[in-house]
Amino acid sequence: MTILVTGATGFIGSHFCVQALQQGLDVLLLDNLENSSLKVLDAIEQVTGVKPNFIEADLRDKSQLTQIFSVNKIDSVVHFAGYKAVGESATNPLMYYRNNVAGSINLLEVMKEQAVHKLVFSSSATVYGEPVFNPYTEEHRKLPFNPYGQTKSMMEDMMADLCKSDSQFSMVALRYFNPIGAHPSGKLGEDPKGIPNNLMPYITKVAVGELAELGVFGDDYDTVDGTGVRDYIHVMDLAEGHVKAIEYLNNHKGYEAINLGAGHGYSVLQLVKAFEDVNQVKIPYVIKPRREGDLAAYWADATKAEKLLGWTTQLTINDMVRDSWAWQSRNPKGYN
Ligand code: WQD
Repeated sequence: MTILVTGATGFIGSHFCVQALQQGLDVLLLDNLENSSLKVLDAIEQVTGVKPNFIEADLRDKSQLTQIFSVNKIDSVVHFAGYKAVGESATNPLMYYRNNVAGSINLLEVMKEQAVHKLVFSSSATVYGEPVFNPYTEEHRKLPFNPYGQTKSMMEDMMADLCKSDSQFSMVALRYFNPIGAHPSGKLGEDPKGIPNNLMPYITKVAVGELAELGVFGDDYDTVDGTGVRDYIHVMDLAEGHVKAIEYLNNHKGYEAINLGAGHGYSVLQLVKAFEDVNQVKIPYVIKPRREGDLAAYWADATKAEKLLGWTTQLTINDMVRDSWAWQSRNPKGYN
C-alpha cells in the first residue's frame, strides 16, 4: 500500500522519505519543485539504495491530483507541501491561503472522493501564539499571529471537522517545534533560497563563509542569557515521528493534534556555542534589536507523542549541530 508524500523534496519531506524507505514503506513522492530541487531524489537514492517514485505536481491543480489518486493505490497521505516563510506570509497572505489552505482542500476533497482516509499533516507550534503557559500542551489555546500560522491552524480545524463528519477518517496534525539538523550522511539537508530567515541555516552559512556574521535578535529577553529560547528538534527524530504517526493511523480513527518537540529549550547563544564546540568553527555574531513578532521562549510538552505514538526524541543538540554542519560543509551551495 502506497503512502503519498506531498512536499516530498522539501527539507522535512525528504528526510521522512529516507526514513520511510529504510523501513520498507512504499512511498510516492510528490512535489511542484517550486522551492526544492530534483537533486534531492538522487540524494535519497544514494542514502537508501532505492530509486524513489516521483511525480511533479501541484496541489492547486485538483484534476492532476484526482488523476494521481486514480492510477496509484494510495492508502494514506503525509502532507508536507506548503509555503513556510512567516514574513512573506504577512506581505502576501493570499498566496499563502491559496497554496496552503486551498491546495489542502483539494487534497482533502480528492481523498474523500477516492476513499483514502488516513492523513498525517505537517503543522507547527506557531498555531499556539503567545504562550499562556510553558511548555505548550496540545490543549493550549490556539492564536496564531501571522497568516502562515493561520493556514496551519485552519488546516487543523478542517481535519478535525472532516473526522467529525465521517468516522472513517483518521488524521493526525503534528505540531513541529524548531526542526534543524540533517541526515547524518551529509547528503541531505536544509537548502533555503536566498538569505535564510531561520537561525540554523543562517549559522551554517556564516560557518561556510557565505555570510559574514550572525545577527542575534535581542539579548534582553527574560531567558537564561537574554536571547530567545526554542525547542530544537533533529529532523531525523521528526521524520521518525511521522512513521510512528502512520502506524497510529492504522489502528485509530478520528483526529489528534500532537506536539513533536524535545520537551526542553536552548537559547540562541547556547545553540551557537554548541555549534562552535562540536564543529570547531567560530561563528562571529552581533546583537541586533528584537525581531518583530518573535516570542521570548517556548518549548513542547511532548508527553502526548510518547503516550499515543510511543515516540520521543533520541538525538541531542550536539547531533543537530554536527549534522547541520556535515550537510552545509559538504554542500556549500546546497543541492546546486
Ligand atoms: C529561532 C530563534 C530568533 C534568526 C519560525 C516560525 C515557525 C517555524 C520555524 C516553520 C529566535 C533567533 C533567528 C537569526 C536570530 N516555521 N534568530 N537570528 O522564529 O522560532 O520559528 O521558524 O516552518 O513557524 O515562526 O525560528 O529559526 O527563525 O528563530 O537571533 O538570524 O533564533 O529570534 O529566537 P522561529 P527561527
